[in-house]
Amino acid sequence: MSDSDDDIPQLSVATLAALQQFYDEQKMDQEPATDLNSVGAVDEDWGMSQFWYNEETATRLAEEAIQQAGKGGRIACLSCPSVYQRLKKGDLDGANDVTAVVLEFDRRFSMYGDAFIFYDYNNPLSLPETIGPQSFDLVIADPPYLSEECLSKVAVTVKFLSKGKTLLCTGAIMEEHAKKLMDLKMCNFLPKHSHNLANEFRCYTNYESKLLS
Ligand SMILES: C[S@@+](CC[C@H](N)C(=O)[O-])C[C@H]1O[C@@H](n2cnc3c(N)ncnc32)[C@H](O)[C@@H]1O
Repeated sequence: MSDSDDDIPQLSVATLAALQQFYDEQKMDQEPATDLNSVGAVDEDWGMSQFWYNEETATRLAEEAIQQAGKGGRIACLSCPSVYQRLKKGDLDGANDVTAVVLEFDRRFSMYGDAFIFYDYNNPLSLPETIGPQSFDLVIADPPYLSEECLSKVAVTVKFLSKGKTLLCTGAIMEEHAKKLMDLKMCNFLPKHSHNLANEFRCYTNYESKLLS
């Protein structure tokens, strides 16, 4: 067998271009461009108790927030970045009629600029001066831990920020504490996460909700 160049199969320029396009498209399918406003744009860090909602739950909660805040309303997402991201995507009815901020311990969310407010539940009232009391039409919170200690500190922040309406997402085991600390009632809607959690999660509100009932 000869090993001369004549024996090496040659591809035409057109075939090479088509092959290159095929590989490029395959790469794009495997590594979709990250949309900074999509749920899950920031990887979960379980060390910070981060468990993101699935798309359906994030959408339902964002729709509820829009409905409850009303036109021109202000929404505070407390340890609840997926709802902020879902609102920010801007494709939901009324999303452009509300403004939202994300209060978070994880500084990766500072990518949202002025809408990011650093928040550590251990210092519940350590907030920037620009955030006045009772300045949000709806506060939605999903505390990092299922403990009375954590929820009671989160409740201090919620009461400071809220004009009245509160939506809490946390474990079903927190029902009594949610009632005692914030006068919240459990809804029928079952929030779901992108990874299944061992604990049953629920939503709680201090108002009547059609979307979560
Ligand atoms: C159970 S997750 C709730 C996230 C929600 N399911 C979502 O998809 O947006 C708890 C949240 O608390 C935040 N967190 C962790 N430590 C915190 C702290 N010390 N103070 C306030 N928030 C904290 C995490 O970054 C995370 O976003």
